[in-house]
Amino acid sequence: MHPLQCVLRAQRCLRRGPLASVSWLLLRTCRAHSSVPSSACPSPERQQEDGVWKDFSSRLATGPTFQDFLRSASVPPEQPSSSEVEDPPPYLTVDELLGRQRRVYLETYGCQMNVNDTEIAWSILQKSGYLRTSNLQEADVILLVTCSIRGKAEQTIWNRLHQLKSLKSKRLRSRVPLRIGILGCMAERLKEEILNREKMVDILAGPDAYRDLPRLLAVAESGQQAANVLLSLDETYADVMPVQTSPSATSAFVSIMRGCDNMCSYCIVPFTRGRERSRPVASILEEVRKLSEQGLKEVTLLGQNVNSFRDNSEVQFNNAVSTNLSRGFSTNYKAKQGGLRFAHLLDQVSRIDPEMRIRFTSPHPKDFPDEVLQLIHERDNICKQIHLPAQSGSSRVLEAMRRGYSREAYVELIQHIRESIPGVSLSSDFIAGFCGETEEDHLQTVSLLREVRYNIGFLFAYSMRQTRAYHRLKDDIPEEVKLRRLEELITVFREEATKANKSFVGCTQLVLVEGPSKRSATDLCGRNDGNLKVIFADVEMEDATDSGLRVRAQPGDYVLVKITSASSQTLKGHVLCKTTLKDSTAYC
Ligand code: 5AD
Ligand code: SF4
Repeated sequence: MHPLQCVLRAQRCLRRGPLASVSWLLLRTCRAHSSVPSSACPSPERQQEDGVWKDFSSRLATGPTFQDFLRSASVPPEQPSSSEVEDPPPYLTVDELLGRQRRVYLETYGCQMNVNDTEIAWSILQKSGYLRTSNLQEADVILLVTCSIRGKAEQTIWNRLHQLKSLKSKRLRSRVPLRIGILGCMAERLKEEILNREKMVDILAGPDAYRDLPRLLAVAESGQQAANVLLSLDETYADVMPVQTSPSATSAFVSIMRGCDNMCSYCIVPFTRGRERSRPVASILEEVRKLSEQGLKEVTLLGQNVNSFRDNSEVQFNNAVSTNLSRGFSTNYKAKQGGLRFAHLLDQVSRIDPEMRIRFTSPHPKDFPDEVLQLIHERDNICKQIHLPAQSGSSRVLEAMRRGYSREAYVELIQHIRESIPGVSLSSDFIAGFCGETEEDHLQTVSLLREVRYNIGFLFAYSMRQTRAYHRLKDDIPEEVKLRRLEELITVFREEATKANKSFVGCTQLVLVEGPSKRSATDLCGRNDGNLKVIFADVEMEDATDSGLRVRAQPGDYVLVKITSASSQTLKGHVLCKTTLKDSTAYC
């Protein structure tokens, strides 16, 4: 992106609101920081090899002048179409923005959103001429896609940086200097602190700055640190086709929206990932169609609040009929109007390929209008599985968390979902030991786990972050109490999940085969509609799609499995036949 564009975009963000207002681009010379290892600057051999660094470095030393900005400002830059190449900034040549076969090693931490971001970042770098390596020792650039959700996630990255430091300092001078970058939530949250604490970090790129990676790396080439942590109001990477990091024969994740406007008091996500924005429906449908043509059998629609999806990209969408919040739920933000909503998207996506399973994660309980529930019930290929993060079973704690619902409203929603989608599988997230949580509040969470009996659960001890709770509440539950309560929640969750999963014993489940089981070479592993892992022996079976031929199951096949045993996390059974999604359903 042209620097002027960055500046203009930053100004636009500043005008629009505090969450989108972080504009931060940073350049430093390595000479100014003597603690930067000398290997951070290209070796003399390297300088001669390229013949460009010296010139580049001297131009960078002076940088773009104010005149550069004024010159460009007098002629407003036109938005380049996707087929046009953007002009490089005046102090970088097109050549310097290229990867020139440098090898990139990408390491992903955190949620599925980060896995998808890794694919986006790689897609951008690949187009710029970088190569990918899965061998750390071979890498010229190491990029960590980071997570900030809990303190532990960040500590893992700091530890990793210490290991990488020695790798960087031991780098042979005959090789190009190793560059290290921090991408994603931690870059966004800690910004300069990372560059100050770890001088060996060369680049920082926030979740909305991946398009800038080639420029940041080009700047880093000269031994300078470079950062872009600008948050955007509209970046969805709609035109970047993610390159699947671990290509699977069966499933893919498709990002449909980014960011979060909910501002739950414990959560860092609105600060690291910015405001909610949705990708245009047309580009999502195009990506899903491509995946279907490639033969993929499962797509998971991805976003921080998938079911708050609202495509406002065209004026006429603003006349779309509005949908309601779930009964008894409220928002922390002003009501939004118009746009194509999640029900519309789900309807369109599920029509693309009747043999393709559709899932979505992670939703917020407030956005489950009847249209969505009806669609999940009606469509064979939309999985009957809903993640409904509760966080706590106590209305008092829910209020402190600013979740916008009471325990009663949540339980009523669960009943409504179960009536609307018989056999639905439910999962949830819970936090133990939030600010001010009493023993009584904790017992209410235990009782909610018993009452709902979730099939899948994600349970965490509260980790204080610099959020609203940090500023207004007291993190007053001792660590050992948090951990004891967490253990209790895990125990109760497991007991209830085992009971829920045992109800499958004797039933036949439609399973999408993923591949060999990790535990046994003679077993295969797949998932049922409710996303539970199903293990079964890899034996010959009848192919009901091909007049009774005897075949072995392959990844991407649908098979019917009769369930013979169940635990809190897995079902086991024996395979009956190969089938198709539209011809078979689970039965008891
Ligand atoms: N501490 C512990 N868990 C958290 N989560 C979000 N923020 C925190 C925090 N500060 C959990 C919530 C959320 C899930 C993705 O992570 O349960 O749903
Ligand atoms: Fe994902 Fe949230 Fe971690 Fe960011 S902070 S990587 S959005 S889990």
